[in-house]
Amino acid sequence: MTKRTRWVIGNWKMNGTFATNAALLHAVSAGESGGASIAVCVPFPYLAQTQAALSGKAVGYGAQDVSQHSSGAYTGQVSAAMLQDFGATLALVGHSERRQYNRETDEEVAAKASALVAAGMTAVICVGETLAEREAGNAEKVVSRQLAACAGVISGAPAGKIVVAYEPVWAIGTGKTATAAEAQAMHAFIRGDMRRFGARSDAISILYGGSVKAGNAAELFAQSDIDGGLIGGAALIASDFLAIVAAAS
Ligand code: 13P
Repeated sequence: MTKRTRWVIGNWKMNGTFATNAALLHAVSAGESGGASIAVCVPFPYLAQTQAALSGKAVGYGAQDVSQHSSGAYTGQVSAAMLQDFGATLALVGHSERRQYNRETDEEVAAKASALVAAGMTAVICVGETLAEREAGNAEKVVSRQLAACAGVISGAPAGKIVVAYEPVWAIGTGKTATAAEAQAMHAFIRGDMRRFGARSDAISILYGGSVKAGNAAELFAQSDIDGGLIGGAALIASDFLAIVAAAS
């Protein structure tokens, strides 16, 4: 069996201040003890602070979005090269909040993932169905469509440069987690689906996200196709985040 990297990635979303970030970054970097790969995805303005705080530490960091373009007249956007100027090694693309509030399309998500991979960074491609889509029996169809748009970059990227995060929209920030069995079933589906378009999917880490907490992480991460987690709310509390990291290690 292929050994896949186990990841715990914190998505801070639009949270934090200089003061709270300093405490959180210090506590997380001081408290981790190896095992899983750890990273935090911070708001753009705090990349410099994060770079300074995590210098020499075993915690990676990156952004929550990236432009698909390399430079030019794209007001408000931030390129992969700009992220790299601050030492960022990864970024999320296609988070459901961006798909929903910023109307990001599957094609834009794929272009963003390609921009990251072309820059030598890791793209964390987020996929997941809404409650209505699940209740209509379309969860796999939706996730498959989201993945298919990224088929080129997923199958062409060097090893380790693509991570997939399955985040059912109905489980994000709601306290309602997919059961370990539901999550495992979708992860196994995702792995098979990526194989269909030629990806070496046994080597691609697939993370679960959506109300992962210290109390449910171990059961989720024990599933054979769940290679770690993408953590929202619990990533803002160092002790919770570290407990989740320990569950993945
Ligand atoms: P919560 O862990 O707060 O549910 O958020 C999950 C998420 O969206 C991570 O990207």
